[in-house]
Amino acid sequence: MEFKKKILCIGAGYVGGPTMAMIAYKCPHYKVTVVDINPTRITQWNSNDLPIYEPGLDEVVKAARGRNLFFSTDVENGIRESDIIFVSVNTPTKMFGAGAGMASDLQYWEKTARKILNCADSPKIIVEKSTLPVKTALAMERILTSNGNSNQFEVLSNPEFLAEGTAIKDLEHPDRVLIGSRETESGLKAREELAEMYANWVSRERIITSNIWSSELSKLVANAFLAQRISSINSISALCEKTEADISEVARAVGMDSRIGNRFLNASVGFGGSCFRKDILNLVYLCRHYGLNEVADYWESVITINEYQKERFVINMLNAMFNTLAGKKICLFGFAFKANTGDTRESPAIFITKKLLAEKAEVIITDPKALSNARVDLEGVSGKVSYSEDPHEATTGCDAIAVLTEWDIYQNLDFKKIYQSMAKPAFIFVGRNILDHKKLFEIGFNVYPIGKPGLTHF
Ligand code: NAD
Ligand code: UGA
Repeated sequence: MEFKKKILCIGAGYVGGPTMAMIAYKCPHYKVTVVDINPTRITQWNSNDLPIYEPGLDEVVKAARGRNLFFSTDVENGIRESDIIFVSVNTPTKMFGAGAGMASDLQYWEKTARKILNCADSPKIIVEKSTLPVKTALAMERILTSNGNSNQFEVLSNPEFLAEGTAIKDLEHPDRVLIGSRETESGLKAREELAEMYANWVSRERIITSNIWSSELSKLVANAFLAQRISSINSISALCEKTEADISEVARAVGMDSRIGNRFLNASVGFGGSCFRKDILNLVYLCRHYGLNEVADYWESVITINEYQKERFVINMLNAMFNTLAGKKICLFGFAFKANTGDTRESPAIFITKKLLAEKAEVIITDPKALSNARVDLEGVSGKVSYSEDPHEATTGCDAIAVLTEWDIYQNLDFKKIYQSMAKPAFIFVGRNILDHKKLFEIGFNVYPIGKPGLTHF
């Protein structure tokens, strides 16, 4: 079959895999190839056991794979034969040298730029899909024009706004698709070419365009604003616990103001995930770089509150359980950073497990999708940790439960049976307000929710 365009994506991760699967699914006349330097990941993408769990992903991949969607480790050939190249490699926080712990580590991204330069033998549109510091496109352009390669490269910014757990829904019905370009004739032409691809399933009003720097910056700012809402509500949850106000009632009253809106106001044990922390640190680093220290401090406080919220959760457990956790068995309900994903990157559960182990507690972890990642995260950590798929089995003989991920299944457990199998007094610390606290209290639990008065039998 003759394809209208050939698309390549470098990086077959949480973004590259699902995003390209959706493009291939919606655009059968485009050939979409996803490449990665990690052969295990590619083998998994070509198998029935995909490397990531996302509701609906299996169906989309199955419909397109082998038809116009291909996964491969042949980066070089992929580059040669494509018209449009998405770069979706990881851009973690840099952990060494200048900017350690703050700046973006651009080494993976830079390697792809050099690879494209070395392998390309025809003009290409290069699309930044990874989240990058503003002005990265300039560096990309400089690399691509550095060795006299006469091919024309046009760099676009097309940040991804999907959230894990709802990736397929977000990709199929995005709030917006943002495409940034140089405002030159060739830049505008490339922008339109990409817009035309998305227009296969996204309405034109939702495909917005901007200059390339606004596009790069908008991605960092969108994540910063989202995280800021969580830190705002979490900071107020601490005040609620002191004043008998209820955070759910406050969030509802505040969120009904249409200027504020009601989404993303769920108080929690803290936000996790691979991006919020890293992207805010990156924003803070950029602001400091430009001498904007007050702006940097403002955004940094979003992270400070998040750390405080995780710390506070463990201190509350310690205080409630008579100031000692040594030898106590604590069961964690959920290890993923949010429901409907197996991803545990930056999950508050990692922090909390380590703190509980430092208190010499024994930790039993249950999660429907994240146990294999949890094992990797806790490798080499000293202390007693065990894992169980079954929440009923996991809680047997435990002193306390800590609910860390808002999986639906936790709402339908037989808490009476669980209570009976636990040591007494039995405690439940609810890091996600998804359970019926009154009912738990009536069963016999001492209940400690986030941002609400505790319900205890003492
Ligand atoms: P990831 O770690 O899951 O995937 C990145 C992949 O790139 C890995 O499989 C890695 O092997 C591959 N890779 C690295 N260097 C390579 C190279 N030189 N050649 C080929 N492959 C290479 O990361 P992710 O979660 O998919 O995130 C990718 C980017 O998207 C990041 O910048 C992130 O901030 C951004 N983002 C992530 C999300 C999300 O929900 N995870 C959402 C929006 C944006
Ligand atoms: C987030 C953004 O929502 C996406 O738009 C963005 O593309 C992505 O980051 C990214 O750049 O990586 P994600 O981290 O996958 O997506 O998931 P979110 O739904 O944003 O949740 C992040 C964290 O905040 C989770 O730990 C979640 O439990 C927590 N959260 C979320 C709350 O504690 N309260 C809320 O009200 C909402």
